[in-house]
Amino acid sequence: MEEKSLYEVIGGEATVRKIVETFYPIVQENSVIGPLFPADIMPVKEKQFLFLTQFFGGPPLYSEQYGHPMMRARHLPFEITRERADAWLGCMKKALSTIELDKQLQAILLERLSGPAYHFINS
Ligand code: HEM
Repeated sequence: MEEKSLYEVIGGEATVRKIVETFYPIVQENSVIGPLFPADIMPVKEKQFLFLTQFFGGPPLYSEQYGHPMMRARHLPFEITRERADAWLGCMKKALSTIELDKQLQAILLERLSGPAYHFINS
């Protein structure tokens, strides 16, 4: 039997959409990281949709449009502190719980995302 990707296990495109749609309003309300984001959040949502699809093992949508992700480099214009990484992960935790993703899957996704979040710390 072929092993399913995390992307397939969580429910593919529909779930990644839900995560992104739920995550950014929470981010915008967050006093620690909200102010870093532009008022027009649509383009950020779309890029995150493409990126997370690929990051969770779905089709490489982000790379097809934007080339190598180089996500740490793309975050260098922003001061990413440990406090901000914690806040980002806290918002993601809320989003995953809000969409009522399976609890075990919530933990796996947060674990996968905490690697890059702390790796992006640059200040
Ligand atoms: C550690 C805390 C983080 C902070 C404070 C943060 C903040 C930001 C900010 C301010 C932007 C730019 C928004 C704009 O276009 O003006 C951005 C873009 C983005 N972030 Fe983060 N981020 C964090 C972690 C992450 C993580 C963990 C991921 C995914 C694993 C991620 C994925 C993205 C993507 C895909 C973009 C769009 C990149 C592009 O322009 O192509 N970020 N982030």
